[in-house]
Amino acid sequence: MAGTEIFGMEEIEALADVIKRKMIHRYGSHAARKGIYRVEEFEKKAMEITGSKHALALTNGTAALIVALHGLGVGPGDEVITSPFTFIATVEAIVACGAVPVLGDIDETLGLDPLSAEKLITERTKAIMPVHMFGGAADLDAIIEIGNKYGIPVIEDACEVVGGTYKGRYLGSMGKCGTWSFDPNKTLTVGEGGIVLTDDEDLYFKMDCYHDHGHIHSKEHERGEEGKFGLGVNYRLNELQGALGVVALEKMPETLDKLRKTKKRILDSVKETGIKPRPMHNAEGDTASHLIFILPSQEAARSFRSAAAEAGTGFGIISENTWHYAKHWKALEEIGEKDIFGTKSPSYAADTMAVTEAILSRAVMTGLNINMSDEEIERIINSVKCGAKAALC
Ligand SMILES: Cc1ncc(COP(=O)(O)O)c(C=O)c1O
Repeated sequence: MAGTEIFGMEEIEALADVIKRKMIHRYGSHAARKGIYRVEEFEKKAMEITGSKHALALTNGTAALIVALHGLGVGPGDEVITSPFTFIATVEAIVACGAVPVLGDIDETLGLDPLSAEKLITERTKAIMPVHMFGGAADLDAIIEIGNKYGIPVIEDACEVVGGTYKGRYLGSMGKCGTWSFDPNKTLTVGEGGIVLTDDEDLYFKMDCYHDHGHIHSKEHERGEEGKFGLGVNYRLNELQGALGVVALEKMPETLDKLRKTKKRILDSVKETGIKPRPMHNAEGDTASHLIFILPSQEAARSFRSAAAEAGTGFGIISENTWHYAKHWKALEEIGEKDIFGTKSPSYAADTMAVTEAILSRAVMTGLNINMSDEEIERIINSVKCGAKAALC
């Protein structure tokens, strides 16, 4: 699960090179750095992989979301529609811009249900932010169609699915913009890091300046002499992280291949039990970081969990996952109290998430490691078989 699993000599050499050259800042010192810009290489690699016209590296995925929202002009009083099944950073990024998160429902793929999103659109809606969770894509075609119908940009939160695809295209590269995360829990990590992908020149320019105190970046000028475009913040990535990012993206195909083979082997082996894997819009492009089954009832999910645990594998019921389900986030109450610029925040009470609850309370999940022995994989297969027997018979 964590990208440190694949750390080796390549990362050590990439870091040692940056340290030996004492060139840690991603910008400036053009003559001294002799044409070596690691963060820029990381961005170029992301562009080559995804086909996106622009990639901007940032300090983390949360910063990537904030910069994307800011670049699109989302601010106080605006509303952004997103999913209640995500990491809290998605919602925090919206709040950080002064806007109001509006939570739709999910469907059985565990992504934002496009119809639920459409029903929530108001004249204040400034973006729709589907989240691709645990390897699986949200219903992107339908969501982008709704965005186009109402003239609302779609920001893909693809922080969890670096390298995942949907109908042959990379997640994060299909909306107006999309974000990737390389934090320590992700399959590919640079310690902390993020990327925003976009094809939109103007949006890229705004995000690029904003993420670095408004600097208009140019190799023709030394740092500080390039001119400014407005005020900004500091979400710059440094060259150590950039160097790690280049290696991470080089290792991406082999890493995803391993995960996908492991998941396929497990799913093929448990087919005969009749257990239902999470349906996916991107079965081919699943990053395969998670193994999820949807049981017929919450009781069945509990029986599955007990039997699988007894057989050696811990599965969680996703509705109990405090990290990824808005029902558990007490801090959301603060948003309601703010009532920003006259925009009444929606209720975030648990009973507003009944549709999501009905799905997540039947969904059981375990994470997969990149490097797994035959023995470990067989233990999971056996655990799923035991769980299925207990839950479905
Ligand atoms: C769906 C989602 N969005 C955003 C983020 C934020 O990424 P980061 O931890 O790099 O800030 C995460 C990280 O876990 C995430 O899972």
